[in-house]
Amino acid sequence: MRVVLVGPPGAGKGTQAQFIASNLSIPKISTGDIFRANVSGGTELGKLAKEYMDRGDLVPDEVTIAMVRDRLSEDDAQEGFLLDGFPRNVPQADVLRKMLAEWGTELDVVLELIVDDDEVVRRLAGRRTCSQCGRIWHVELDGKSDDVCDVCGGRLFQRDDDKEETIRHRLEVYQEQTAPLIAFYAEEGILVGVDAMGPVEEVTRRAMDALRPYM
Ligand code: AP5
Ligand code: ZN
Repeated sequence: MRVVLVGPPGAGKGTQAQFIASNLSIPKISTGDIFRANVSGGTELGKLAKEYMDRGDLVPDEVTIAMVRDRLSEDDAQEGFLLDGFPRNVPQADVLRKMLAEWGTELDVVLELIVDDDEVVRRLAGRRTCSQCGRIWHVELDGKSDDVCDVCGGRLFQRDDDKEETIRHRLEVYQEQTAPLIAFYAEEGILVGVDAMGPVEEVTRRAMDALRPYM
């Protein structure tokens, strides 16, 4: 199954992606995670991406698209994948469609996570990520009083782009550049909206229900 997850920053894409991908036994491909791994690894790609990410702007399309093409060419993505954070504008969606057509395939479904703005800010302000296993936590939701991952014991960190000012800018960028994808995929007839308010497990259940007809 070939799935795209779309939604504003803090909608819970990364959180849901880990559960949905594991339920469907497909790899989760998150462009944000790949960029962050390059930033911490100090690669050339990381140095370039960091400048854009710290501002809350999109990394240039050429760079992002080349990276996704490489990742989708790997063996584990041949039978299906869950894309989290890509495409993020109409030009990226166009390229993805052409790339998949070249390979004789296409997307099955685009899942839109729907949340309101206040909830997004609350979620991002409390987000912590494990530096070792990548699991996403929330200080209030998960009652985290220390900075230690309950799964692997790794240190939790707060993302550089989760500062209030940068969050606000990322929301603007979403409205201007990513929200038009909703109409793009609705027109293609593969868009499904999921109410992403409420507990994580409840949202996962709704997402799996929404995906069932495409399995
Ligand atoms: P990216 O990493 O994709 O960030 P984003 O889209 O801003 O999304 P987030 O990761 O902030 O939020 P999320 O929806 O995954 O929420 P999460 O599950 O963590 O991109 C970062 C940057 O990389 C971009 O700004 C850009 O510079 C660059 N980039 C990436 N892709 C690109 C592309 N294609 N083109 C160009 N540039 C690109 O949840 C948030 C918090 O809420 C967590 O603490 C979680 O525990 C909590 N939470 C989740 N679900 C619930 C719930 N149901 N109830 C309560 N709390 C919840
Ligand atoms: Zn961990």
